[in-house]
Amino acid sequence: DKAQIGVTGLAVMGRNLARNFARHGHTVAVHNRTTAKTTALVEEFGDEGTFVPAETAEGFVAALERPRRLVIMVKAGAATDAVIEEFAPLLEPGDMIVDGGNAHFADTRRREAALRERGIHFVGTGISGGEEGALHGPSIMPGGSAESYETLGPLLEDIAAKVDGVPCATHVGPDGAGHFVKMVHNGIEYADMQLIAEAYDLLRHAAGLTPAEIAEVFRTWNTGRLESYLIEITAEVLAHTDPVTGRPFVDVVLDRAEQKGTGRWTVQTALDLGVPVNGIAEAVFARSVSGHADQRAAARALPGPARRADRGADFADLVEQALYASKIVAYAQGFHEIQAGSAEYGWDIDPGAMARIWRGGCIIRARFLDRITDAYRADPGLATLLTDEHFATALGAAQDAWREVVATAVRLGVPTPGFAGALAYYDSLRAERLPAALTQGQRDFFGAHTYHRADRAGTFHTLWGGDRTEVEV
Ligand code: 6PG
Repeated sequence: DKAQIGVTGLAVMGRNLARNFARHGHTVAVHNRTTAKTTALVEEFGDEGTFVPAETAEGFVAALERPRRLVIMVKAGAATDAVIEEFAPLLEPGDMIVDGGNAHFADTRRREAALRERGIHFVGTGISGGEEGALHGPSIMPGGSAESYETLGPLLEDIAAKVDGVPCATHVGPDGAGHFVKMVHNGIEYADMQLIAEAYDLLRHAAGLTPAEIAEVFRTWNTGRLESYLIEITAEVLAHTDPVTGRPFVDVVLDRAEQKGTGRWTVQTALDLGVPVNGIAEAVFARSVSGHADQRAAARALPGPARRADRGADFADLVEQALYASKIVAYAQGFHEIQAGSAEYGWDIDPGAMARIWRGGCIIRARFLDRITDAYRADPGLATLLTDEHFATALGAAQDAWREVVATAVRLGVPTPGFAGALAYYDSLRAERLPAALTQGQRDFFGAHTYHRADRAGTFHTLWGGDRTEVEV
């Protein structure tokens, strides 16, 4: 019997995806550059379903039913191109290559266009949920042609996470749309993680709580509107004691956050699209700051405020409100970027559907996402999530606490770029007038860059170096 699907690249993500397909009753061809991994997979997990191990690329392709569905799970970048070049010549028109790695959407667009010329569907697919998700049900964000989704979709929906019986997988849009949405998912993931980190830092250094006490605070929050995978695992990490020293685990880990690049891409892309994602950008920069050990060592001698930890345990309630409000901002920015990307590339992405497939399986899965789906259902043309009725009410109720938290952080010298940046964005959007008018005046002054008037149409320039009359240009 031929295999319905094949997976090549059997590192932990590929192996677990292959097992997930097999556990759902699909015959899965498996292949890896070095055969040892293929053999190990079949030996260890062969009883979970039907695997067809292949030693060669030719054997792997021959094992697949037509149209062939070939999932590649290799490192993003050059390795992905190499694998595509290895397999594409062996395929026939109508076959599909599914790239489940964290590729840059621009690479996916290039690969999709090149393979389309050869009659092959290239499906750049975001897959979120880490190794556990890959095995038990990830959130799956496939791009590529609608035609490819017709035969591929049912298999993906089979293995995806389910929330209320609804699969966390849907066709996102053509060519690079899936990887674009996965990129923004990761940008939001960075923001979520940074906001949680700031909440922890404040509880520790403004309210004087211990990591174990903060773990309890997060456990409580996880029963409310902040309920999410990241809050849940934060409590676990904070409650963990280092077995070597007996100290809190969080105190023995080097405080230098690493990144593989998807958060940075989210910000780079947002800059190109002109989308203000300052909350996400602060999260990327916060990781970057943490890594500059030499500057941090030199700056440690700089003065800060004398007062420390003068807030009581009840401060936690204010931090919860600031966290919720800042989280709304991060998602509003991420969804703005998705809509801008969709418009730029003609993808026609349904934002509400993205929130729906993020409810389960993925790293940012959260109760909160239902609210985003509802918001777009109520108003598909919603300009910003901030003004959806639920979110507007929540922001209004939280704003006093949010300001209080940021003010406290500033007063005590606890860095909260995420909370403060999100609040600045909120205040910027709701401002009646922005000082951008002054910026325009400066540009016109030094470079005759012209400006528009609020009171009538046209493009104007003031003769700053002359008699300062205004001319219409
Ligand atoms: C997911 C994750 C995953 C990513 C990690 C690490 O959705 O399952 O986003 O794709 O590898 O988040 O990312 P960084 O190394 O950049 O933190």
